[in-house]
Amino acid sequence: MTAVLGTRAQSPVRTQPIATADDVVRARQLARTLAVECRLSLVEQTKLVTAASELARNTLVYGGGGRMDGDVVERERSGVRGVRLAFTDEGPGIADVELALRDGWSSGTGMGLGLSGARRLMDHFDLCTAIGEGTTVTVIKWTH
Ligand SMILES: Nc1ncnc2c1ncn2[C@@H]1O[C@H](COP(=O)(O)OP(=O)(O)O)[C@@H](O)[C@H]1O
Ligand SMILES: [Mg+2]
Repeated sequence: MTAVLGTRAQSPVRTQPIATADDVVRARQLARTLAVECRLSLVEQTKLVTAASELARNTLVYGGGGRMDGDVVERERSGVRGVRLAFTDEGPGIADVELALRDGWSSGTGMGLGLSGARRLMDHFDLCTAIGEGTTVTVIKWTH
């Protein structure tokens, strides 16, 4: 799982393969489980699950499948806990990241609000991609 500066893992990493639409639902459920374990508020849980749903769908649709890894992390020194989710695929990658992150831009027939929405909803958002190699999106939602 992609390391995030200044954070420490607090739980074992749980992995959900993403190969079918049902797996997207399972990824959502795992995100919810981690959010509850981390004691995110209901509002924050919903934000995390919404972002997870969008990112898992992108992994399936554009990445050709992949996986979601999730765990609970702690911010060093503050002791604040959060949920970290990483979506990884070995698909075509994203040629123009700035464009992909733009509100309303889709290379397909989507609404183009998945990446931009996930970035807005999360406290930490990191997109790592290489043409022909794949994409990893890592997000964190802190409890406060
Ligand atoms: N994992 C991915 N691999 C390759 N391209 C991606 C991936 N995720 C997103 N993209 C690209 O970024 C665009 C914007 O994604 P998103 O904001 O979720 O909108 P939408 O899914 O509605 O197209 C997608 O249309 C696609 O071209
Ligand atoms: Mg999308």
